[in-house]
Amino acid sequence: MRAVASAPGKTILFGEHFVVRGEPAVAVAVGLRARVEAEIGGDAVVVESKNLGLRESFPLHGGGEGPLYPVAVAAREGLRAANADTGVRVVVDSQIPPAAGMGSSAAVAVATVAAVAAAAGAEVEAEEVSRLAYRAEEVVHGKPSGIDNTVSAMGGAILYVKGEGARRLDIDFSPVELVLADTGIPRNTGAMVRRVLSLAERHPEVFSAIYRAAGLLARRAAELMEAGEFEAVGELMNVNHGLLSSIGVSRYEIERLVYAARRHGAFGAKLTGAGGGGFIVALAPRGVGRRIAEALGDVAARVYVVPVEEEGVRVEERDL
Ligand code: MEV
Repeated sequence: MRAVASAPGKTILFGEHFVVRGEPAVAVAVGLRARVEAEIGGDAVVVESKNLGLRESFPLHGGGEGPLYPVAVAAREGLRAANADTGVRVVVDSQIPPAAGMGSSAAVAVATVAAVAAAAGAEVEAEEVSRLAYRAEEVVHGKPSGIDNTVSAMGGAILYVKGEGARRLDIDFSPVELVLADTGIPRNTGAMVRRVLSLAERHPEVFSAIYRAAGLLARRAAELMEAGEFEAVGELMNVNHGLLSSIGVSRYEIERLVYAARRHGAFGAKLTGAGGGGFIVALAPRGVGRRIAEALGDVAARVYVVPVEEEGVRVEERDL
């Protein structure tokens, strides 16, 4: 009983951080995927990561710790979804750069739940996979908004409100492409989120206005994206970046990439994810992404020109 599943990484186009306190946010799945192979057997949850070069065994129940523990949590959820009282071996192989704001942990959790449940003989809907993967995300990030696991499971573009769920947006992305550039500075999502929330607590009136503006911006951007008005979408990405700078999650290395992307022809550019390091995302007219990527190549640790990935979680193989 063996199965393979995969799930895409993501980039947030509007509303990171503000989403944590209930404002809407827009995220898209991107064409870099985490792939997980699961084989039922034994009496433990054995997790192997090809990316980290690590292998560890966890009991079927109880706690745990370490970088592979969240994967074990997702595997246990997959077993539970299938009502399977057995062990499993899970092998993770991901194309998504970790700790960079591209939803790598969420994509691994989503693919793990789907692979383990499929290997144990269960069919689980994407929405349920996302819900179960959230348990692993809580181990990684504390109290995340849930946007990462939701967009990874659903694919495409979503408008997401914490506690309410996601609406899939109907967007034709063919006139544009996304450029993702890495500052090379790793960061911790949970720590960045806590920092923003504590600043907001110290200045509640000012921050409530910033949060409201961010929410209006995300909703307007979703309308403009559905209407194909990508130049205006880019302008709002720049405004969103300004709001993120104002709450203290940008830094010089991020600004440098954002300004270089704008200067070389992007409609707009902003940091994406928790900030403090990680990636920026630029929206570019189709055909211009390569030029921006070349210009950023000298200052970024790595650059991708990626399509939006329409397909979310997918079971690739299943031998029962
Ligand atoms: C992380 O990808 C996005 C944040 O908004 C955190 C969250 O939504 O949980 C910074």
